[in-house]
Amino acid sequence: MSPLALSFEHRFQPATRPGLRPLLLLHGTGGDEADLLPLGALVSPGAALLSPRGQVLEGGMPRFFRRLAAGVFDEADVRRRAGDLAGFVAAARDAYGIAAPIAVGFSNGANIAAAVLMLHPEVLAGAALLRAMVPLGTPPAFRLDATPILLLSGAMDPIVPAPNAARLAAMLGQAGADLQHETLRTGHGLTQDDVERTVAWLRNRPQPAG
Ligand code: MLT
Repeated sequence: MSPLALSFEHRFQPATRPGLRPLLLLHGTGGDEADLLPLGALVSPGAALLSPRGQVLEGGMPRFFRRLAAGVFDEADVRRRAGDLAGFVAAARDAYGIAAPIAVGFSNGANIAAAVLMLHPEVLAGAALLRAMVPLGTPPAFRLDATPILLLSGAMDPIVPAPNAARLAAMLGQAGADLQHETLRTGHGLTQDDVERTVAWLRNRPQPAG
């Protein structure tokens, strides 16, 4: 299917099996809308896949928001871009007739997913955050009552310090999320372990009716 003209360049793959939550795939820095389609197909075979490309360019590399330095975010831009992404998801749901998605984000994509959870908590049905860090130092009060979230961190991650991942977990947990935080014996890159844990977590998620 050729993508409809929505606010983000994106790929959409319709579901081939009924009753599975759609996945919103959010790539890392330098990725694009094609990057995580294979991961989406692996972790939830047959689910609809919605995969936008980040609209910020850093040295030609797409990202979902601006940063001032490694790990130092332009929080005004985070807020603006999270709003843009929330608007895209709403428009794409209408256009493609899909239920609220579960985000599967890696690195910068996981960070924008975390920002959407904090700023627009109604948009996502859940999120698998792979190597996420705190996207906003002082987010507004937000509630995520029973929203399922899987946070997979890397014990040797040079980009996301363990205390930062722990702080994100605390913020999500305090907001009432149904949070599962696991620290894998790996670095920033994704591993087969990430795939297997995401598959197992998704299998236990409530699926939309019909
Ligand atoms: C970010 O900038 O979102 C994080 O540092 C992850 C990255 O993209 O390197």
